[in-house]
Amino acid sequence: MCGIVGYVGPKSTQEILLGGLRRLEYRGYDSAGISVITNGGALETRKKAGKLDNLIAEITNHPLAPANIGIGHTRWATHGAPTDGNAHPHLGGPTSKLSLIHNGIIENFAELKAELVAAGTKFASETDSEVAAHLIAAEFEKTGDLVAAFGAVVKRLHGAFTILVIHQDAPDVVLAARCNAPLVVGLGDGENFLGSDVAAFVEHTKRAISVGQNQIVILHSNNVELRTFDGEPVVPEEFTVSWDASAASKGGWSSFMAKEIADQPQAVADTLMGRLASDGSVRLAEIDGLTEADIKAIDRIVMVACGTASYACDVAKYAIEKFSRIPVQVELAHEFRYRDPIITPNTLIVAVSQSGETMDTLMATRFAKEQGAKVLAICNTQGATLARESDAVIYTHAGPEVAVASTKALVAQMTAGYLLALFLGAGRGAVPAAELRSLGKELLKMPARVNKVLGRLDSIRALGKELSTAKSVLFLGRNVGFPVAMEGALKLKELAYIHAEGFAAGELKHGPIALIEEGQPVIVIVPSPRDADSLHPKVISNIQEIRARGARVIAIAEEGDAEVENYAEHVTYVPKSANIFSSILTVIPLQLFALELATAKGLDVDQPRNLAKSVTVE
Ligand code: M6R
Repeated sequence: MCGIVGYVGPKSTQEILLGGLRRLEYRGYDSAGISVITNGGALETRKKAGKLDNLIAEITNHPLAPANIGIGHTRWATHGAPTDGNAHPHLGGPTSKLSLIHNGIIENFAELKAELVAAGTKFASETDSEVAAHLIAAEFEKTGDLVAAFGAVVKRLHGAFTILVIHQDAPDVVLAARCNAPLVVGLGDGENFLGSDVAAFVEHTKRAISVGQNQIVILHSNNVELRTFDGEPVVPEEFTVSWDASAASKGGWSSFMAKEIADQPQAVADTLMGRLASDGSVRLAEIDGLTEADIKAIDRIVMVACGTASYACDVAKYAIEKFSRIPVQVELAHEFRYRDPIITPNTLIVAVSQSGETMDTLMATRFAKEQGAKVLAICNTQGATLARESDAVIYTHAGPEVAVASTKALVAQMTAGYLLALFLGAGRGAVPAAELRSLGKELLKMPARVNKVLGRLDSIRALGKELSTAKSVLFLGRNVGFPVAMEGALKLKELAYIHAEGFAAGELKHGPIALIEEGQPVIVIVPSPRDADSLHPKVISNIQEIRARGARVIAIAEEGDAEVENYAEHVTYVPKSANIFSSILTVIPLQLFALELATAKGLDVDQPRNLAKSVTVE
């Protein structure tokens, strides 16, 4: 799970590579490096442990000569500690004329390394990647044909990899290979790009090609050629990137996370756009292929995802079951794949992923497809592997999400889940069409309501600062408030590095209440009191139970719910909405709370320790 970028063209290669790495830094930030072939024909490399700024300082101290071709890497360490030596690029061959970057894991590196060591090769790093650099360099020495050497070696590698290579003796080409790790080509005018995702080059071009499994790219400034690992030519499928380059910059905000929280009204609106008519009816053109008969034949939906995306699935489960009466099972992708799950041709798999590159989610969907299930993806990234490998895709239109902690992608996933629920509801006819349309109209109002929530967050912000020394925060919720509680806890763990747990409020008395002691902060998502079958009284009872045991209760409640003020020390109100859609609103104060608490602790909210945004290894 590293970021890779490649460039051939007339512009300053150093600037293009560093700009691309800046946009890909969310994929890993343990170390970074670039190699270029200078206009004088020399291979030059700079690399440094730590964040990209360390590499930039290194380049400032030791400038690179002008160049029109190069590769760059930002690392999330797997094999070998995050040191200067283990940073990519890695050089290959006795004269170090080849430079290589790698994202993924080469599973058979130990046996390949043994072979090289026996032949006298000296290694400069502890990485698996360096093996590939030496193998390709050695093969090239033998044949003098870099493309053939590259093709021969990538076929010997097992595992997951995207590899980019440049060689001093072939100074006009970047070679790339893709196997179980992401790679996209950017097509420019007299220049071409490679990236782990389109964010790497979207400021230069919106024309892109996604590269398929086991394919090689031969990238020149005026030409791009794709081949299979077996040398067969591949006809590239071009697409236009819809992301706006400016969306991937901070634009004056203190952090990407702060900006992305503020982007949420737009993310919800863009995800609804063109899919929800003003009369509340849903049209999902992306899954037009699913006929009414197909929908009627679905006997179970299994939603697979990881982390925050799995909480979007939990929310969708409530809505899909309520609107369509199709049973929904939510599975963490890594657990699902390895427990011999029951899948039939009537099972619909819905895989949810911001990046579309999460390996656990990809493995789960591949497995389900092998069992004959249809896979529908909910994905934010065009050209991503998940989108390519699924039968249909509902794109969330959250735009590029750079901060490691997911915020706007989550509300967009929740929105897409609600749309899917209404769509399936209409197809199944279990709920009257007029009722579904009225819910659809309610969903249309959510962008404005999200905007309203954002205007009311000063007190939760202050509370985040006030609680910056808290050792633990608990979160409680029911119904769609339960996954929101889980998400609130995850945000706090990943950003502020403190103990946080989310519970179903009804579960409290079955154990977790023993955690409550004097002063324990507990954030409670309170459901709307307005529905006839509202769980509001039950959650109020839960609040009283924990208050009686000394908890500091912080409530997220619906405006107009005056009762909650009698029991909570602090209340943040969100606008009224149908309770089923309230997750989109109640999650926002929790995001802000975690952001403020972590910031008050002096932590880097965009790049929390030990994490990478997309986890492209299992
Ligand atoms: O790209 P994905 O949506 O598949 O990522 C899934 C999780 O890794 C991700 O949501 C993770 O939990 C976030 N860092 C949470 O903020």
